[in-house]
Amino acid sequence: MKTLHEPALAEARTAPTGQVLKGQYVGAYRSDKGKIKGMLLQVGAAEYTIKLPKYLRPMLVRELAPGEFVQVWAYPEDDRWRAINVLPLPECEASLLRQQWGDLSPVVEADRPKQKRLCIEVCTKGKCYKQGGRQLHGALQDAVDSNPDLSHVSIKATGCMKACKHGPNLRLPNGRMLHRPTPAEALAQVKPQS
Ligand code: FES
Repeated sequence: MKTLHEPALAEARTAPTGQVLKGQYVGAYRSDKGKIKGMLLQVGAAEYTIKLPKYLRPMLVRELAPGEFVQVWAYPEDDRWRAINVLPLPECEASLLRQQWGDLSPVVEADRPKQKRLCIEVCTKGKCYKQGGRQLHGALQDAVDSNPDLSHVSIKATGCMKACKHGPNLRLPNGRMLHRPTPAEALAQVKPQS
């Protein structure tokens, strides 16, 4: 990925508070621990690091493809920008920018290898049902739905795994079974694959 932060940061120091930045979504910007915190936006030759409020972060994974043109309402803050809202850029404006910027297209996440989706199977039948299998399945699904960092994980309800006494049971993508795990214990086992 290009490292073109300097022009953007220099501009940020002198820019008035609050601007609409129009550019191309490059990819997610992450913390040192790998959590999604915001987005990288290419505006001409400059790349902006923009922090997003929590409620906008899932959109990066579900609705926005790297390379798409967007408009971001943001204001400069310390060494980066902080966004208030993100919307798609109308196609007429996007094609104008495409023409103006020509070869400045960013190296987007779409160019990187796709991440494999990992499936956790949860037994929700028989004894597991009585022992909380449905609740475990629901809690895992909620955790995955609300956390963009778990976009590589899917949750599936299944039938008996022949370990009824120890339920509720689930099976990890590597085939290992967990008995009565908490959602956090199960999700800690599914790290993204590169
Ligand atoms: S009912 Fe869940 S393992 Fe048998």
